[in-house]
Amino acid sequence: MLRTPICDLLGIRYPILLAGMGGLGGGLTPPELVAAVSESGGLGVTGLTDVAPDDIRKRIARIRELTDQPFGVDLLLPASMDEAEPESLEAMWTRILLEHPRHVALTRELLGEFNLPAAPPAADWFMSPKVIREQVQAVLEEKVPLFAAGLGDPAWVVPLARARGVKVLGLAGAARQAERQREAGVDVIVAQGAESGGHTGSIGTTVLVPEVVDRVSPLPVLAAGGIVDGRGVAAMLALGAQGVWLGTAFLLSEECRLYPEHKQQIMAARSHEFVVTRAYTGKPARDVRNALIDRWERSGLPALPMPLQWVLLREVRAAALAAGRYDLLNNPAGQGGGRLGRLRPARAIFRAIVAEAEATLERLARQHWPAGAGERRQGA
Ligand SMILES: Cc1cc2nc3c(=O)[nH]c(=O)nc-3n(C[C@H](O)[C@H](O)[C@H](O)COP(=O)(O)O)c2cc1C
Repeated sequence: MLRTPICDLLGIRYPILLAGMGGLGGGLTPPELVAAVSESGGLGVTGLTDVAPDDIRKRIARIRELTDQPFGVDLLLPASMDEAEPESLEAMWTRILLEHPRHVALTRELLGEFNLPAAPPAADWFMSPKVIREQVQAVLEEKVPLFAAGLGDPAWVVPLARARGVKVLGLAGAARQAERQREAGVDVIVAQGAESGGHTGSIGTTVLVPEVVDRVSPLPVLAAGGIVDGRGVAAMLALGAQGVWLGTAFLLSEECRLYPEHKQQIMAARSHEFVVTRAYTGKPARDVRNALIDRWERSGLPALPMPLQWVLLREVRAAALAAGRYDLLNNPAGQGGGRLGRLRPARAIFRAIVAEAEATLERLARQHWPAGAGERRQGA
């Protein structure tokens, strides 16, 4: 029952994709996780936005060693490829020191308040239009089955991808963005609702999905944001999505190399503790709430625009990491995270989602409700 036209388009058995989550040098979606999802009958996508072009080729080769099933690569693109090369990190830091003394003072206060001994910042990964072009070139030359464009405008990638037989997927957090993706010529659109982990918009998944489906039909739409079980998958099919794009559900897989402390944090958090903040990146992102986010919001200081906010906080991040204070590092995750309960192999997560989605669809088809459902319990 869990089969839609996108299964034929992508050559997969179930319409369930692992979202291409970038971070920790590609460690959030390593080849083992991607292959486990693809081997289970879904489509694994690896997020390689913070991986250098040569290493991207190696990751793709490793995925191909582990599976002969379709998979994808996700990269973040800038809004426009005409953007000038950004300044160096050091130049940005100098500008922040000169132009934003209150922000710098706050980061110094944070070091003191959280009792963090200073540590040298690591050499941050630095995205520039030149690097992104090389990343895209590496992915397309490898002729991967699917290229996913996380942020930005994929219009220039589509013809290059098409020439190599690579399908393109675009993410949209609003109907207007979905229309732009369609105009750019993408093959699949992900409607990513506000419940999502990481950078996110303000429209909830149940509103956004049918809105996007209606605007871009007959283009296939995948639903994302807050979906962590089979009931969620069935609900998204009811809304007109042809499948789902799951991030947070697979952060709690054994294969995902997220810090163990962060996996624990996600499992322990309640739905209201996955909050949207600009504190770490300068753009609204959903993270597990922590003391640093609370302190930043209390300060009343507006975050600096991306990428300056990330650069501003690099001393604090380095000091927190050196001190083992993972609770102060950003931990992007969606609102469904706290419902996941325990760590499991990705194949087990996938199987459970498929089984529950099929059972739910069957139950709905038969209009069968468990005995007593809807009745008021005695004493309730
Ligand atoms: C830790 C994390 C990192 C993410 N990184 C990316 C990324 O690099 N590119 C991208 O397109 N989306 C990224 N996302 C968003 C996912 O692709 C996806 O839309 C989102 O996780 C779906 O919501 P869910 O987490 O509730 O399943 C990230 C999400 C998380 C939680």
